Amino acid sequence: MEQIARPGSGLGVERVEAGEDTQPASKPETLESLQLEVAACDCCRELAETRTQTVFGVGNPRARLCFLGEAPGADEDRRGEPFVGAAGQLLNKILGACGLSREEVYILNVLKCRPPGNRNPMPAEADNCRHFLDRQLQLICPDFICCLGAVAAQNLLGTTAAIGRLRGKVHEYRGMQVVCTYHPAYLLRNPAAKRLTWDDMKLLMREMGSPLD
Ligand code: URA
Ligand code: URA
Repeated sequence: MEQIARPGSGLGVERVEAGEDTQPASKPETLESLQLEVAACDCCRELAETRTQTVFGVGNPRARLCFLGEAPGADEDRRGEPFVGAAGQLLNKILGACGLSREEVYILNVLKCRPPGNRNPMPAEADNCRHFLDRQLQLICPDFICCLGAVAAQNLLGTTAAIGRLRGKVHEYRGMQVVCTYHPAYLLRNPAAKRLTWDDMKLLMREMGSPLD
């Protein structure tokens, strides 16, 4: 039987594979290291070829509350930050009305790349990107997630139920409390639904122990 040289085994010269023992032991994952991995991702060829940059997320890395959107749009693709366009302006107003700021919450999307022409994410794209979302949430470890719109809510919760059925109650995902509401872009087109989103924010803030009324 072949003898294998082990360190300190006295069986002779140790063979060291290229790279082995020359790299530091793998470091624990951080949001920064994950962001670098996302930036280098080319799993979805069309998205990798058409994006300006990936859009990882922004805010407090220890936030108690995350807002989850669908995917970057044109403005976000240009700026590298989620919710900076018209929908983002409305999200900022919603946050303000809840006594929250972008700095104290964390804002992220299901997809880290802009789908060309603002089409919906394809299921395969959401599947490819899912481990990034889950690892990001694991690092932030929020108590609450607010899903903005049907795509975010359905993807996170793994359901095809309509947003009108998902909103208005508290769901759970991996121990995190999840409240779903309409997407701010939808609210811009359907201002009458703002009243329902306000009800959802009241539910969320009540659950968080900071009731709005
Ligand atoms: N819509 C989203 O779902 N996410 C963004 O980042 C911007 C617009
Ligand atoms: N449809 C969606 O996809 N999102 C909404 O917020 C409302 C309708």
